[in-house]
Amino acid sequence: MSGEFAGPAMKRLLLGMICALALAGCSKEEPASPQPAAKPVAERAPGDAKAGQKFADTECKSCHGEDGGSVAPGIPHLAGQRENYLLSALKAYKEGKRAHAALKVIAEHMSEADVRNVSAYYASLPAVGLGASRDAAHTSPYERGKARSTTCSSCHGEDGNSGTPGIPSLAGQQAKYLIIALQEYVRGDRKVSPTHAVMRALSPLEMEAVALYFASQTPGERPVPATGDASAGAQLSGVCSGCHGAHGVAADSSIPNLAGQDFNYLVASIKAYRTTRKREKMRLYITGLGDADIRNIAAFYTVQKSRPAEKAQTMVRDLTEKCDRCHGVGVEVPGMPVPKLHGQDRDYLMMAIRAYRDDRRESTTMHKMSLPYGDSIIEGLANYYASQPAN
Ligand code: HEC
Ligand code: HEC
Ligand code: HEC
Ligand code: HEC
Repeated sequence: MSGEFAGPAMKRLLLGMICALALAGCSKEEPASPQPAAKPVAERAPGDAKAGQKFADTECKSCHGEDGGSVAPGIPHLAGQRENYLLSALKAYKEGKRAHAALKVIAEHMSEADVRNVSAYYASLPAVGLGASRDAAHTSPYERGKARSTTCSSCHGEDGNSGTPGIPSLAGQQAKYLIIALQEYVRGDRKVSPTHAVMRALSPLEMEAVALYFASQTPGERPVPATGDASAGAQLSGVCSGCHGAHGVAADSSIPNLAGQDFNYLVASIKAYRTTRKREKMRLYITGLGDADIRNIAAFYTVQKSRPAEKAQTMVRDLTEKCDRCHGVGVEVPGMPVPKLHGQDRDYLMMAIRAYRDDRRESTTMHKMSLPYGDSIIEGLANYYASQPAN
């Protein structure tokens, strides 16, 4: 279904969004209790930090810094990282389970003893994470979306509740659907209106953030419209409810909520599927409907009560609480080398989480954890951890 307008990047974003939504629903679930690693990762012989320093000074310093601090965005800090994690990371590079151009040759040529020594060395250094509040303002995609939404509010209402006939409410709308709609306008798949030039100014991250912001607003209730017969509409809405929900609140985040939507907009958008809007599925369901039927159905959905589709206000915070069950300060998971994230380089964190999500980095644990997130949520998570004091 998404194939008709989704490129690979968009598909990933959408996948991220789907699951971000699923995630809100799963938030009460306990994460699978951490499974001990199949094999002990490290040989038990202790590393020699002094020998490790010598090695690091010649082989690693140019990127990981004199003090174990990254010399450039995208390179991780190693100082104060857990020894068992450093061991397992280097082993992963050596064995080709984790690949990166910068480390391929170096890791292949390191002996087991080099790996132990250099791990002991970096683990012994005091953590260097700046813990500065750089980008902390972007910790929340919700706040970012709110800031960007000001260009929309003159028409769609401050909180996305439109009071202008013909202009749709965005409040409480499904986040994934909002992104699809924005993409359709930008690509010209819907009738383009000059007023929507503002959408082109949104980066993909901002689009996601704006969608999350509006999806999290509480939709208002609407009075009975002057025309249309809601109870006749209720009869006709049976065929719609399989996708749009019995009362116009969809279970699938790519399908728009219709409940509480502006009456004129509903009428116009249903009719648009006869002409300018391109969804074959929708076209199929509305072909048999006359104008009076359409007004009745619109009246029915307009007076239904909707609810916010998202809770983006606390999404990043709620997630970090889950992450901290393994990554929290002072938390040790027996048998599992878990890296410290607090104070880590922001760009590196972002790349790492995306790598798990996109299957470019292997980890059964992290794969499960990071698959769900859209890019703006990943950015929020990275900003949060990067801005925390290193421990
Ligand atoms: C040319 C730059 C460069 C050099 C030299 C280099 N690294 Fe790295 N290192 C990186 C980059 C970039 C990454 C992130 C790679 C990735 O995304 O997998 C990294 C990642 C790592 C990681 C994984 C950290 C984590 O948090 O998962 C370890 C451990 C590491 N390097 C150790 C070393 C050691 C030890 C040396 C010297 C023997 C070394 N590196 C030399 C650039 C370098
Ligand atoms: C000048 C007024 C105006 C501004 C500013 C505006 N919109 Fe709209 N928007 C409209 C109108 C009118 C429609 C309905 C157009 C149609 O029928 O295709 C619409 C439709 C939409 C839709 C489709 C809703 C649906 O249910 O399918 C989305 C999503 C949307 N706008 C998002 C935005 C965002 C995000 C911004 C700010 C970046 C914005 N709009 C700015 C007037 C505006
Ligand atoms: C097979 C699933 C399906 C059925 C059945 C269905 N729809 Fe839809 N509907 C969709 C999808 C998917 C979209 C979004 C399409 C798009 O992006 O343009 C949509 C969009 C809409 C929109 C546009 C909403 C907006 O905010 O712009 C309206 C209005 C609508 N449907 C009304 C109906 C009505 C009325 C019926 C029953 C007569 C119906 N739909 C039956 C899947 C369905
Ligand atoms: C069940 C325990 C667990 C939970 C919960 C968990 N992680 Fe992890 N995480 C791990 C393990 C184990 C690794 C090391 C995997 C590897 O070697 O690639 C890891 C690695 C990472 C890395 C790579 C760090 C580096 O230095 O390369 C990042 C980033 C990360 N996790 C972020 C998160 C975020 C964000 C969350 C919450 C959304 C989270 N993790 C939840 C266990 C967990």
